[in-house]
Amino acid sequence: MTTNRFWQLDHHPKGNDFASALSLQQEELPSLADGEVRVRTGWLSMDAGTRMWMSPRTDGYQPPLPLGAKMVGLVLGRVTESRDPAYPVGALVRGFGQWSEYATMVPALAGLEVLDDTVPDVRQHFGALGMNAWTAYVGVKEVAAVKPGEWLVVSAAAGATGSLACQVGKALGAKVIGIAGGPAKCKFLTEELGVDIALDYKADDIEARLGEIEGGVHAYLDNVGGPLLDAILPNMAHYGRVAVCGMVAAYDNDAPLPGPARFDQVLMRRLRIEGFFIPDFLHRGAEFLPVLRQWHDEGRLAVPLDESNGLENTLVAYDRMLSGKAIGKVIVKVAGDEG
Ligand SMILES: NC(=O)c1ccc[n+]([C@@H]2O[C@H](COP(=O)([O-])OP(=O)(O)OC[C@H]3O[C@@H](n4cnc5c(N)ncnc54)[C@H](OP(=O)(O)O)[C@@H]3O)[C@@H](O)[C@H]2O)c1
Repeated sequence: MTTNRFWQLDHHPKGNDFASALSLQQEELPSLADGEVRVRTGWLSMDAGTRMWMSPRTDGYQPPLPLGAKMVGLVLGRVTESRDPAYPVGALVRGFGQWSEYATMVPALAGLEVLDDTVPDVRQHFGALGMNAWTAYVGVKEVAAVKPGEWLVVSAAAGATGSLACQVGKALGAKVIGIAGGPAKCKFLTEELGVDIALDYKADDIEARLGEIEGGVHAYLDNVGGPLLDAILPNMAHYGRVAVCGMVAAYDNDAPLPGPARFDQVLMRRLRIEGFFIPDFLHRGAEFLPVLRQWHDEGRLAVPLDESNGLENTLVAYDRMLSGKAIGKVIVKVAGDEG
């Protein structure tokens, strides 16, 4: 018998108090059912969107996680047992599993994928080649439809999705404005990512600063929602596009935030606002990956990894990500690649 430690959702968290809401449990692993795959978790991905699954809201893009369930999240690791021949033992895979030492998945439900094992640092399957990168690519290129020479604004710009979105914007020839919290993040945006302008939403008057952009902003990749969206809408160019990627300002609310106060600008400026959700695009990986891989190999697409060690430190890492203490992609090393 193998013992498996896992994080269980006991209560809906209040704010970022995850320690009162989740507990570290253990079990003896049951036998695999037909069609299931078991993965030794190498790393866990800390994703802002999963915060909504902890809330009781039933109007999200998927139902809330039942209390008493194992917390769900993206897992990167190697198959240790398999009852699906497409996922052989030893294969490097990524999919929606559990915050646990061993994740048990039904491939079609977990979006489980066999990954390229030749990538020098396999953690990049959570970085420049991961879901945040796919999100950045779809959001900037297709939904925001950015064209060379246009102004693109990205919020939560020093986080995983945002930092990759800034780089996708630059690779597509846009002028990029990154918005993030604090001077260290703004320095990272200009010095490491090469954005044209970095704005600190905690210190700068965002509406006034964007008002200096002649002709307005053509595209906005919105990771935040809330008051920041209201600062940007009156500064959009005519026929501008807003790609609604996330609403991290509202994820710890158990109820939706009121809509944008400046919604009138959608009409006045003839804007297009469109939400998108990356699991809807999983079937197009073969199309995105070569582009992302090429940019990554050329040194044009990278994200710093903020790695915590040990399953027991998952909640601290999750808070680091959501409360903005980290730059780049927050991950937790559970077993690494040693199995
Ligand atoms: N649509 C999709 O399919 C999809 C897929 C992946 C991610 N996303 C979205 O992308 C966004 C970022 O997710 P991520 O997983 O990459 O996390 P992340 O950006 O690495 O971390 C979250 C960031 O949010 C910022 N933040 C937190 N509260 C904020 C607030 N009230 N106002 C402004 N900024 C705030 C923090 O940065 P600061 O220090 O700058 O505040 C923090 O770095 C989320 O909205 C997520 O839902 C969407």
